[in-house]
Amino acid sequence: MNALKNTTQKSPTFYISHGHKPIAAHANGIYITANDGKRYLDGCSGAAVVQVGHSHPAVLAAMHEQIDQLQFSYRTQFENQPAIDLGYKIVAHMPPGLDRVFFVSGGSEAVESAMKLVRQYHFHRGEHERTIFISRLPSYHGSTLGALSLTGYQPLQKPFEGTYQLYPKIPSPTQYRIPEGHTAESHAIACANELETNILAIGAHRIAGFVVEPIGGASTGAEVPHNSYFPRIQAICKQYGIPLILDEVLCGVGRTGRWLAADYWQIDADVICLAKGLGAGYAPLAAIVAKDEMVETVLSNGGFMHGFTYAGNPLACAAGCAVLDVIDNEGLVENAAKQGEYLLAQLQQLSERFDWIGDVRGRGLLLAIEFADKASKTPLPNDWKVSQTITDMAYDEGLLVYPRKSLNGIAGDHILIAPPLIITHAQCDELLGLLTKALTTFDTHYQKIAQNNPK
Ligand SMILES: Cc1ncc(COP(=O)(O)O)c(C=O)c1O
Repeated sequence: MNALKNTTQKSPTFYISHGHKPIAAHANGIYITANDGKRYLDGCSGAAVVQVGHSHPAVLAAMHEQIDQLQFSYRTQFENQPAIDLGYKIVAHMPPGLDRVFFVSGGSEAVESAMKLVRQYHFHRGEHERTIFISRLPSYHGSTLGALSLTGYQPLQKPFEGTYQLYPKIPSPTQYRIPEGHTAESHAIACANELETNILAIGAHRIAGFVVEPIGGASTGAEVPHNSYFPRIQAICKQYGIPLILDEVLCGVGRTGRWLAADYWQIDADVICLAKGLGAGYAPLAAIVAKDEMVETVLSNGGFMHGFTYAGNPLACAAGCAVLDVIDNEGLVENAAKQGEYLLAQLQQLSERFDWIGDVRGRGLLLAIEFADKASKTPLPNDWKVSQTITDMAYDEGLLVYPRKSLNGIAGDHILIAPPLIITHAQCDELLGLLTKALTTFDTHYQKIAQNNPK
């Protein structure tokens, strides 16, 4: 076995940056253990992925059974039973009208597929000019060039300028920094109205669709819109005939305490993207779910000119079937709502101790803490690297959280708290205990740097 001997040795693998982490050895439930024996509480489900926890026996059994039977068959040569079964299970959880499922292997592929399905639909209807997608700022929709065109997170885009489309973005409806003269409601409506402004400026006949996360993930830090937001968005999309594409890659599959985050507002979407929680880390698995009329228009005009080799992989779909059964049978959506409510209240209480915590927000088990000056809401200086430092301090305590910048990736700091949906009340307390230690350590550090850098 080739093991890295120390943290300065180069690994053949690389991801975002230099440096590497301990090797993950095994995992169970909400815990993951490194090969040095240290155990971590997975307070963010990796990247909001591990919905049913690690090593769930029902998922492992289903995968073992499937691998003995059929590991791969190609979609142009065969259908496979796990993919069909998973298709039915997904549709059973969708709002009425969304009943056609197209499988892919990850969130970026799902977003790309949604864009291409919608575009091909317009094409066959003779609406050739519909090529422009509108999305929001900040947002994250994936790393591939199509999905990156929708993304509003500057550091991820800057090096690739010129290679992706410069699609228009409307502001995400933050409830934390409401501009002067606005209420939460009027600000949400004003943000939604920006969609109409863009449609009118560009021409509805040129708009391919509007892409949005119903509850924000990493880029906004679990941003929950005011209840007035989606009814207005829906009305604008209907009025101008603009397809509404929901990116539920992160917030879907029970994460927010409803099966879809869209269920909070009964949003009538044309396409929904699902990923992370669907395979729950057991297999690369994602899907788009679309309306029959859109799919039939594309299929009866020569077929969908798009697809990936691993689409509908039987092993991945068998894992997905087992994951969805576990979520239903163990009441995990309800558990996410219940434990999420408790965690949110406790985090809000904890935040009162620190004048550098500006906001605590989210729904279900998609929660975030934003670090900013409590009184002024001003972000903390970038060079203090607050979210990364706190994440590192939590890591030292044996707790995994997920750091991001809050304002378009260029300023502000937050962490996501998004544990597996199986978390118990006692484990929430354990998470809170570890987080409190990390925040207390950071407070000492903060007081020192704040003293050396007076306002
Ligand atoms: C909302 C959203 N959309 C799309 C993606 C891209 O998914 P993937 O990393 O699986 O390609 C992500 C990933 O974090 C996401 O959070």
